[in-house]
Amino acid sequence: MKDYQEFTALIHRKTGLNLHLYKEVQMKRRLNTLREKRGYKDFLSYYKAMSEDDTMLKEFLDRVTINVSEFYRNYPRWEALEKNILPSLLKKKRKLKVWSAACSTGEEPYTIAMILRQYMDPADITILATDIDETVLERAKKGLYPERSLKEVPQAVKQQYFHQEGALFRVDDSIKRLVQFKKHNLLSDRFEQNVDMIVCRNVLIYFTEEAKQKVYLNFSKSLTKDGVFFVGSTEQIFQPQQYDLSVIDNFFYQKQS
Ligand SMILES: C[S@@+](CC[C@H](N)C(=O)[O-])C[C@H]1O[C@@H](n2cnc3c(N)ncnc32)[C@H](O)[C@@H]1O
Repeated sequence: MKDYQEFTALIHRKTGLNLHLYKEVQMKRRLNTLREKRGYKDFLSYYKAMSEDDTMLKEFLDRVTINVSEFYRNYPRWEALEKNILPSLLKKKRKLKVWSAACSTGEEPYTIAMILRQYMDPADITILATDIDETVLERAKKGLYPERSLKEVPQAVKQQYFHQEGALFRVDDSIKRLVQFKKHNLLSDRFEQNVDMIVCRNVLIYFTEEAKQKVYLNFSKSLTKDGVFFVGSTEQIFQPQQYDLSVIDNFFYQKQS
């Protein structure tokens, strides 16, 4: 126990990552498995090895952050965005500033761009995509994906916005141009303001209740009136009105004032 506490303090100092804001049981289980796999009997010796070996540190950070993603992940929700949420949002706002928070390798912000592009002039679209992990952001900027990341992409969208290069698929430049990637830690950095839609999916489940509440509050402050907050399919907000949000569809919330 003490070993893990000291380890988390050292990691915080070295990387700025506060492991205590992630659910402890899950996180410990994941890290114990990795430590044992690398052959260290305790966390302090694991830390020592890691601080002398960048590859090991990177492996550790990858395990903490869990980067899986895909285009149109949970397709029915994107359909709801396109058919129900977006039309009413566009009645109120001509330009949209969208933030894909914890965007991983870019599938999510590019999905947003592909959907918005069908209804909006590109000049009216701003998409900011952020993640804590610089490695995934570099991959996101390249915009090259294996076929398995595209399995939910509608055929017409695939034809319009992807170019096959051997076994990989490249996102079209007209989509890439709409997305700006930036490093951002949801648990410690300043939040973007005047955002019309926040998409933050499949990361809040890893945070403690306390950390989650803080993030919700910050997201709520980031949103403009009538702005939309789109969460992951296991991440309903308990009592959204405490964050000045109301439910407008499953996994979609709207800022009240
Ligand atoms: C499972 S992926 C989700 C990707 C995408 N949103 C989706 O639903 O497909 C989780 C992402 O959260 C990022 N992440 C973890 N902790 C974070 C933090 N404190 N701040 C910002 N991003 C974080 C990870 O780096 C990872 O890329």
